[in-house]
Amino acid sequence: MKKLGNVTPYDVSGEINYDKLIKEFGVRKIDNGMLEEIKKYTGDLHFMLKRGVFFASRDLKWLLDKYSKKEKFFLYTGCGPSGPIHLGHLQTWIFAKWLQDKFDVELWFQFTDDEKFLFKDKSYEEIQKWTYENMLDVIAVGFNPKKTHFLVDTKHAGLLYPEAIKFAKKINFSTIKSAFGFKDSNNIGSIFYTAMQAVPAIIPSVLAKKNIPCLIPLAIDQDPHFRVARDVYPKLGYYKPALIEGVFLPPLGGVKGKMSSTGEQIAIYTTDKPKEVKNKINKYAFSGGQVTLEEHREKGGNPDVDVSFQYLRMLLEEDDEKLKKLEEDYRSGKLLTGELKQYTIDKINKFLEKHQKAREKAKLQIDKFLY
Ligand code: TRP
Repeated sequence: MKKLGNVTPYDVSGEINYDKLIKEFGVRKIDNGMLEEIKKYTGDLHFMLKRGVFFASRDLKWLLDKYSKKEKFFLYTGCGPSGPIHLGHLQTWIFAKWLQDKFDVELWFQFTDDEKFLFKDKSYEEIQKWTYENMLDVIAVGFNPKKTHFLVDTKHAGLLYPEAIKFAKKINFSTIKSAFGFKDSNNIGSIFYTAMQAVPAIIPSVLAKKNIPCLIPLAIDQDPHFRVARDVYPKLGYYKPALIEGVFLPPLGGVKGKMSSTGEQIAIYTTDKPKEVKNKINKYAFSGGQVTLEEHREKGGNPDVDVSFQYLRMLLEEDDEKLKKLEEDYRSGKLLTGELKQYTIDKINKFLEKHQKAREKAKLQIDKFLY
């Protein structure tokens, strides 16, 4: 097993070539045939599927075949609680909610407080604070409380740890070192951690004492965890989990990287006030427009590199017709950068207003979600 390309759970650097990642990681591109296959069960397609935001998978056809034979799957995804939630996190969760609703399935959601304690220069207490804060955002996305179960690694250690050691025993140090690009100086907890992330994919099977298929929606940087663990599942008598993988929502500075709450890139957080959103977009969102108004009217803008447009495409503008019109008008020069930014600001603020209300209400709902 080797570290592939410039994308691991702990480091996403430089320009990301998704076609190359598909080859290197050995995942399957979601093509039109696969989209049709999904549509058989969902009736329609989420815009994130139509627009290639969720673009790759592992064993998805297998999972759908099982589903067609009345073998229901469950969903599993997670969050590393080390800071505030930004729009990039929400992308995966909004899509996961759609899957939950369409397939009418359970969702197991892991909060990896152990991981973030081990990898970040933050105290255990601070990580606990972020675990609570992040839970509010997950609940605010609107998951069904009757079908959604939160696991917190340190809190549910009694359930998770006996399974994690079974994975750990079958994964050796050199595999981890190369898959994640670790060095001898890595702390020993970080080496073990991937075993903890493998476990929720079998927890419902452990509890039910029978094999239940699992589908994991994730951003592609999390793929290495499962690439390492997938060989182990059958050795322990379980199905390999299926994966559906998304691209990264870009940071404000340009379409090439990944929105993140660490590093110098600026992100839009779920708790941002309308004025902050306005300032961030106006000041930092990379624009595909021309320098002068005359030039823009004449040559038009480039939506492919325009961060505001990409936020609309990947997250905010559900309406395909409206998106198409924005794209055409921007390319032709009819729509100006300032106008496109204003449209994006309004969209984000409308979205966040609703999210923030739900987030307040979530404070009374945490117990309903905790396993
Ligand atoms: N490691 C992930 C993070 O840092 C959190 C996580 C745990 C996760 N289990 C997952 C993400 C399963 C996707 C799928 O954010």
